[in-house]
Amino acid sequence: MSDRVGSGSRLRVGVIGAGTIAVGAHLPAILRLRDSLELVAVADVRAEAAKEAAERFGAAHAYTDTRELLDRSDIDAVVICTPEFLHAEQTLAAAAAGKHVLCEKPMAATVAEADAMLDACQRAGVRLMIGHSRRFTPRYQRIREAIDRGDIGEVRLVRENERRPIAMYTAQAGWAGYWAPDAGGGNARPWLEQAAYSQGAALTNAVHEMDLIRWFVGAEAVSVYAESRITDPNAEVPDFITASIRFANGALGATEVVNRLPPGYPVYHLTEVFGRDGLVRALDPAMATLAVTDPTGTTFPANWGTLLQVPIAYESQLRGFADAIAADGPVPLDPVHARQALALSLAAVRSSREGRVVRLDEGEEDAATPAAAVRRGITGSDGTDPDGVGTEGQ
Ligand SMILES: NC(=O)c1ccc[n+]([C@@H]2O[C@H](COP(=O)([O-])OP(=O)(O)OC[C@H]3O[C@@H](n4cnc5c(N)ncnc54)[C@H](O)[C@@H]3O)[C@@H](O)[C@H]2O)c1
Repeated sequence: MSDRVGSGSRLRVGVIGAGTIAVGAHLPAILRLRDSLELVAVADVRAEAAKEAAERFGAAHAYTDTRELLDRSDIDAVVICTPEFLHAEQTLAAAAAGKHVLCEKPMAATVAEADAMLDACQRAGVRLMIGHSRRFTPRYQRIREAIDRGDIGEVRLVRENERRPIAMYTAQAGWAGYWAPDAGGGNARPWLEQAAYSQGAALTNAVHEMDLIRWFVGAEAVSVYAESRITDPNAEVPDFITASIRFANGALGATEVVNRLPPGYPVYHLTEVFGRDGLVRALDPAMATLAVTDPTGTTFPANWGTLLQVPIAYESQLRGFADAIAADGPVPLDPVHARQALALSLAAVRSSREGRVVRLDEGEEDAATPAAAVRRGITGSDGTDPDGVGTEGQ
């Protein structure tokens, strides 16, 4: 349990998982916000990753066992930056230790796990926020503001496309590379390429799209039809998903995500919101395809640096989280939205697998997916079964 009381002092933070997104976004944001945040410790099963991140970002403590970080009474909140199949287990442990939680997206691997996270944090009286960073990205905030002002009238269709080259993932992986859970057993494939640990583009990427579409439409999804493919011969999980969503207010959503395009392909994100009276299209240069025109013509250099480094989003996400704790108020992004986006992504996975329209009120598929089956065999560092976290509420 944290010994911190009241507001005014800095929020003392521990980071769990020191991989790509932690080192690329959260830890630098914590450092920039040092006036209100203090990095106390970093934990990662890879000792070198924990040690290097702690040294680089000024934490006094580095652990390979998350339990040791959670046992510290001088930590108020944790930022969970591990893959989604660990989110529920680690959030439950953090809540039990009295720590507030900012957890990366997707919220969890199943809706049941997401519900267990909501329940555990509520019972423990700690804040839970999910890092849907795009909610804090200026271009998406401007779109929502345009909708709120009534610039385009009632929203009827939202389209979200995201196309990424495989080289982007190699470039973003940083010094340590993505975590390969089975490296000790000789399998050096990163978790996000393995069916045992990931559901592919539907959760890695499209959970962002699902969240943004819900946000812009302003209603709950009723049904989804999706098709997915493994287009990369080396991939184990779908790298291409396209989905059509029907919302309760009659609006439609459409999304297409491809994340293993050939190396030279530029990153391309497109957001279009069609309303009764007009259209708003994302134009923020920091997120648009980079085009360079010179006397020889127009080229599209690799632009994932400008695309993914949206430091202001991670800063305002963290600041909002810290301010909510200091003020003892609600977090700026209700985790229920992340739960709903996850439910939509998982319904899309099911739709693409079963080749039919899936209604959201069908509830969650039983835990018979390949990833869930393998997860059942994974135990946490404290020997707990991560699938034992709860079964209620689909
Ligand atoms: N918000 C965004 O736009 C965004 C972008 C990228 C990744 N993410 C999310 O962040 C999460 C992590 O992704 P990543 O790309 O950083 O992956 P990664 O493989 O680069 O990093 C994961 C880290 O977790 C560590 N780890 C594994 N098991 C652990 C355990 N039991 N305790 C402590 N540390 C452990 C690994 O060693 C690794 O360093 C995922 O949920 C991913 O979807 C979000």
